[in-house]
Amino acid sequence: MGAQSTAGDVARAADVLRHGGLVAFPTETVYGLGADATNPDALRRLYAVKGRPAAHPVIVHVADRAQLRDWAARVPPVAARLAEACWPGPLTIVVERAARVPDEVTGGASTVGVRVPDQPLARALLRTFGDGIAAPSANRFGRVSPTTAAAVRGDLGGEVDLVLDGGPCRVGVESTIVDCSRDDPVVLRPGGVTAERLREILGADVAVARAGERATPAPGTLPSHYAPRATVELAAREDVATRAAEHLVVGRSVGVLCLAPAPRVDGRVAVLDPPHDVDEYAHVLYQRLRDADAYALDVLLAVPPADEGVGAAVADRLRRAAGAGDAVAEARA
Ligand code: TXA
Ligand code: MG
Repeated sequence: MGAQSTAGDVARAADVLRHGGLVAFPTETVYGLGADATNPDALRRLYAVKGRPAAHPVIVHVADRAQLRDWAARVPPVAARLAEACWPGPLTIVVERAARVPDEVTGGASTVGVRVPDQPLARALLRTFGDGIAAPSANRFGRVSPTTAAAVRGDLGGEVDLVLDGGPCRVGVESTIVDCSRDDPVVLRPGGVTAERLREILGADVAVARAGERATPAPGTLPSHYAPRATVELAAREDVATRAAEHLVVGRSVGVLCLAPAPRVDGRVAVLDPPHDVDEYAHVLYQRLRDADAYALDVLLAVPPADEGVGAAVADRLRRAAGAGDAVAEARA
């Protein structure tokens, strides 16, 4: 494990960004792979390193709420209320884009996603850099998001100019994305800000987008996203032992991921260190998916938590890792 980054590293990182380079940095959700959001060449390199198709938009990170105005054509009241209540924090607000926003940020769409992260190194970097930093999660397209600097280096290696190390990410799953560019707000991706909290702030339930309704391709909402190499299968807690036995009998290596207490299973099953509540489940989720690969598991049986609090985001990512995301279910429905 590397040492945590210092103020000197932050100054160097801002310099790298000014020269069109790429900097991976911690946020409270996951590590981001950052580029100057006003520099189309830097953005093109960002897409190349990530292996992401160019039509997919990236989130612009800014230092404070006031900077939303630099990126939005207008700030509707709902967006202003959400920003006031949740920033800095794990919420991305989608608004109509300002004229200055490069097409490379929005994938050509008429909207832009903006957020103020709640992580000291991220905020120091944003303040020092002074303008927006475009940053998708710092993993290769379709792979598990990194929640440590070591995971970033393992996935992107030498293709990043500098990696800031802020230790493990506090939340562990990505930001909630709320589209405020239309008449009524719509949740495009569940995440660190819970549905309960959104209801509290806005005084009404916020609709959750169905796959077919999305105007923009959203990579974080593709079913293949967030997948480890092991095959992830969703299981009910009471079925885990039987399902594991069925895999063992045909020679597959099997692991289990679920909330504590872990179910009793055959001694050959790798029981991944169980989280004790949904917040811890979110915090360790991507590390456990990486563990599944480190143990070279063929199959990971995952028991999703209830759709409450940040559990909704954990269950969403597990469904996607299992290739059974809403997008698939709805396309078939
Ligand atoms: O927590 C997070 O949001 C992390 C950290 C680094 O901030 N970032 C992240 O970025 O998860 P990424 O690129 O892996 O996922 C961003 C999601 C994608 O699903 C993208 O399509 C969506 O945000 N998005 C960005 N701009 C959008 C827009 N204008 N309209 C709709 N969706 C948008
Ligand atoms: Mg991502």
